[in-house]
Amino acid sequence: MRLFEFVSFCLISSAFCQTSNILDVAKQLGATTLLELVNDAGITDVLTVGDPLTLFAPSNEAFSNLPASVLAELRNDKQLLADVLKYHVLNGKVFSTMLADELVVPTLLDGSISRVNIYQQGQVVTYNGCQITTSDQNATNGVVHLISKVELPPNGTVVDAAKRDAKLSTLWKAIVAAGLMNILAGPVPRPLTLFAPTDDAFNALPPGTLDALLNDKSALIDLLTYHAVNGTYYSVGLTSGTYSTVEGKSVTIAVDTSGITVNDAKVTTADVPGTNGVLHVIDKVLTLPSSFRFQ
Ligand SMILES: *[C@@H]1O[C@H](CO)[C@@H](O)[C@H](O)[C@H]1NC(C)=O
Ligand SMILES: *[C@@H]1O[C@H](CO)[C@@H](O)[C@H](O)[C@H]1NC(C)=O
Ligand SMILES: *[C@@H]1O[C@H](CO)[C@@H](O)[C@H](O)[C@H]1NC(C)=O
Repeated sequence: MRLFEFVSFCLISSAFCQTSNILDVAKQLGATTLLELVNDAGITDVLTVGDPLTLFAPSNEAFSNLPASVLAELRNDKQLLADVLKYHVLNGKVFSTMLADELVVPTLLDGSISRVNIYQQGQVVTYNGCQITTSDQNATNGVVHLISKVELPPNGTVVDAAKRDAKLSTLWKAIVAAGLMNILAGPVPRPLTLFAPTDDAFNALPPGTLDALLNDKSALIDLLTYHAVNGTYYSVGLTSGTYSTVEGKSVTIAVDTSGITVNDAKVTTADVPGTNGVLHVIDKVLTLPSSFRFQ
């Protein structure tokens, strides 16, 4: 085909002659805040020049749903902004058919991995817990998937996340006392969902219970592993039902318009990311079924 023929062919049938790069495609999908932030971060070239890329493009709503303080921090810290945006990009073309549950993939942010989850027989597919709402939009230099939330890169495992949170200090102390770092944080962590009771929740246990637990390693292990569900369940992936813990016991999760409960505990903060899964803060210590001594 000669050039002028090719050009007229493209004019007639633009679908066959993709001329939009991944940023153009994101823009066509309405992700204008993302474009503005890519520009502010100075990474337009990174996303438009070079090898093919896969962009998980947060919608405008996704950015406006971020806490105002987080958005302000991103806007004020160019390096942090660039890091967070690169965390949404993979090398190569990754189409939705190539995604799998608990798939872990390196991102453009050095040393950082992302996690894909597939829930509810494929009805809900997430990238770092952010639901993919439009997938497989081809671009000249890659492919774009639109997502409905922005997730910041995890800083360590779910146990590290517990350690950093001042209101989870009892849980952290208990994990260390139980020697559970290997199960809950590595060296080869299996993906899990940690339901993390607050200090207030531990303090609400009957008098003496907490001290007794901290002095009884096997009871503590039983109790803490009961708070770790097998597999990464971001809130968007949870539906009402029973879920297996890492030790094969089961917890009952209920999801409705008022929120998420686990047995009789309420999730008060959802979706704290970790490299080995996700943490949800709960307002009560879960009570183990039968055999457990401290109920
Ligand atoms: C997108 O590109 C892939 C391969 O590069 C191709 O298989 C697919 O048909 C394209 N989709 C559209 C809608 O053009
Ligand atoms: C990650 O956590 C460590 C402490 O665990 C902290 O010193 C560091 O500032 C955190 N990094 C980010 C980017 O939040
Ligand atoms: C945890 O999930 C994995 C993957 O689905 C499965 O192979 C394993 O048996 C599960 N473990 C428990 C204790 O349910």
